[in-house]
Amino acid sequence: MGFFKWVNLFIFLHFFAATPIFSDSTKFLDLAKDPEVFDWMVGIRRKIHENPELGYEEFETSALIRAELDKLGIPYKYPVAITGVVAFIGTKLPPFVAIRADMDALPMQEMVEWEHKSKVPGKMHACGHDAHVAMLLGAAKILREHEKELRGTVVLVFQPAEEGGGGAKKILDAGVLENISAIFGLHVASGIPIGEVASRPGPIFAGSGFFEATINGRGGHAAIPQHSIDPILAASNVIVSLQHIVSREADPLDSQVVTVGKFQGGGAFNVIPDSVTIGGTFRAFSKESFMQLRQRIEQVITGQAAVQRCNATVSFLDEEKPFFPPTVNNGDLHDHFRNVAGSLLGDNKVKDMQPLMGSEDFAFYQEVYPGYIFLLGMENASRERLETPHSPYFKINEDVLSYGAALHASLANSYLLKLNQEAPVVDEKYHDEL
Ligand SMILES: *[C@@H]1O[C@H](CO)[C@@H](O)[C@H](O)[C@H]1NC(C)=O
Ligand SMILES: *[C@@H]1O[C@H](CO)[C@@H](O)[C@H](O)[C@H]1NC(C)=O
Ligand SMILES: *[C@@H]1O[C@H](CO)[C@@H](O)[C@H](O)[C@H]1NC(C)=O
Ligand SMILES: [Zn+2]
Ligand SMILES: [Zn+2]
Repeated sequence: MGFFKWVNLFIFLHFFAATPIFSDSTKFLDLAKDPEVFDWMVGIRRKIHENPELGYEEFETSALIRAELDKLGIPYKYPVAITGVVAFIGTKLPPFVAIRADMDALPMQEMVEWEHKSKVPGKMHACGHDAHVAMLLGAAKILREHEKELRGTVVLVFQPAEEGGGGAKKILDAGVLENISAIFGLHVASGIPIGEVASRPGPIFAGSGFFEATINGRGGHAAIPQHSIDPILAASNVIVSLQHIVSREADPLDSQVVTVGKFQGGGAFNVIPDSVTIGGTFRAFSKESFMQLRQRIEQVITGQAAVQRCNATVSFLDEEKPFFPPTVNNGDLHDHFRNVAGSLLGDNKVKDMQPLMGSEDFAFYQEVYPGYIFLLGMENASRERLETPHSPYFKINEDVLSYGAALHASLANSYLLKLNQEAPVVDEKYHDEL
């Protein structure tokens, strides 16, 4: 065949093949709303809600996930990153597209009185990760039923320790995601109507780091300050100076935060203590701004402490609270998301949003692979208003499970189709599959 004929054939096939990419979306939503799938997801979510487990302790949650995968006949790798489970549906051959759910709960007491309230005092699924697990299992069930249609492999990532533990980083270190072409994630959102989604290309959540500093002086009698070196006054000046980093050194159009949330020192009205410990968090939307903040926080603390004759040691808690990079959505995946979510929910239900100063460890995946995360609405105007995540009164509108499962399944399935259509352009060996 001559070159031009080849090109024409390709264009023809490309268009011919391009049409069905998103046609499964509504089919998947109907399936996810079917009681067989929906009630099953609700049951799983409630079981996990009753037994919340903190980061890297999600052993029973993980066992429940594996039991359901076994029943569905879906193979998986375990343990990955201590409690994580990574499952595979489809051809088991490239291309690979990943979808991710986090599994961990928060160390807080649930205040909602209901039948499936947390049975573990001081632990609660207050961020919706119980729903995230149920939705990813829902997607697994849907994709398993359509496994023969998959044009590659969907990789299901059940990840531990999103809440500060950096579980995503440990999953990456385990190497199981090698060779994936893209990864998708979602987070339930209370302020967005049910059946709607919101996201944006580029930075969506801030990078986040923590710091702790001990400011050492010399304690003594409060009435004889000249014999002491007062760390309380030094720490106070440190905190004021820290507030000048963002207000005087950062570009006002490049959003950043430095907050001191911890101040511990002294215990008596008439004693100057030996030392004071302060701690806080800092946020920025680019790695450059983030590293700049980190450097200046250290300089300001030690420099300002020295002005008051004190010594300071600064730690960024790299072990206990690894910093989260900014969460940055891939632009091409944003287009794919708009197409899939638009055909599944209606174009007017797919909203753009402003970036948020909160952070997500999904960012770790995006540092290595093209990644995309979006917010999934839960608010139903004809019902009660939902509290924001991390509130002890946080609730899930369980109707959301169908939307999440269908979106997960559609995003992955149609991205595999898209990759197959694009493959002939970049890779000889896929010509046969046209
Ligand atoms: C990724 O691809 C390389 C090269 O084809 C292969 O050697 C490796 O085993 C793959 N990794 C995984 C986790 O599948
Ligand atoms: C600060 O450190 C120096 C050098 O280690 C030491 O000589 C000095 O006493 C310290 N000052 C205070 C207030 O801790
Ligand atoms: C909102 O809640 C009402 C009352 O429970 C229900 O009939 C309706 O289907 C819900 N809407 C959506 C989009 O789920
Ligand atoms: Zn959270
Ligand atoms: Zn969360």
